[in-house]
Amino acid sequence: MIVNGEGSMLNGFANIMQRSIPKPPPGNRPLKTLERVLSKAGLGSRTEARSWIGGGRVSVNGRVVRDPDAWVDIERDRIAFDGKALRSEQRTYLLLHKPAGYITTYRDPHGRPTIYDLIPDRERYLFPVGRLDLDTSGLLILTNDTQFAERLTNPEYHVPKTYLVNANRPLADDDLDALRRGIELRDGPTRPARVTRVGESAFEIIITEGRNRQVRRMVEALDASVITLERIAIGSVRIGDLPEGKTRALTSDEVRTLSGVGARR
Ligand code: URA
Repeated sequence: MIVNGEGSMLNGFANIMQRSIPKPPPGNRPLKTLERVLSKAGLGSRTEARSWIGGGRVSVNGRVVRDPDAWVDIERDRIAFDGKALRSEQRTYLLLHKPAGYITTYRDPHGRPTIYDLIPDRERYLFPVGRLDLDTSGLLILTNDTQFAERLTNPEYHVPKTYLVNANRPLADDDLDALRRGIELRDGPTRPARVTRVGESAFEIIITEGRNRQVRRMVEALDASVITLERIAIGSVRIGDLPEGKTRALTSDEVRTLSGVGARR
């Protein structure tokens, strides 16, 4: 948690300014002000949240915090209201069709567009389930459900992720077979993959790990390179015809299916 040290010393006008546009501290953790976390949890209005916090009813990691503008890390900090952990927050699951050119981070020190530029204000407290490279497009899930996210990203669960790849040269059947068998990368061999040709230089690949730049590195190991890479499915949930840059809520069926997909091995 990051407390706004100077908050209590501001005069009335500056205080109002501070309230309307609190400046986030640097870094790329998913931070929210304490006031916002409380109101987001559906407990009451922002004004009520401020008064509860000021009244000492809210603690962060076991310590009472009276500054409504204190920054908290929504993934790591434990927030309690009247001694009860704020776990009642409704679980939310959002699917984003990420365009290429957006970075999967909360804030980019270099000022590049981030996926949060595409997320509606009221859903900016969600965090991405895994990452897609800057130049990768396609299906990205955001949620506030850490267990769900863990299941989808932990390679031990073998959750299948499907990518559509366009390479810079025609690929021979032997190339695709090599991808199917597994490729020796510097961090070890890749697991066997399902590969379907969709064109001379295009194919779909289903992998069950999510190593850094994995698909790109697999293609590079064939002395080729990726021109476009799109994730089109996670498990049975597909990007479908959701336009690039748009979001939609996952259906409860999709959440249920994804919560049970894969098996720990
Ligand atoms: N594999 C990659 O190389 N990049 C991604 O963004 C996802 C999978």
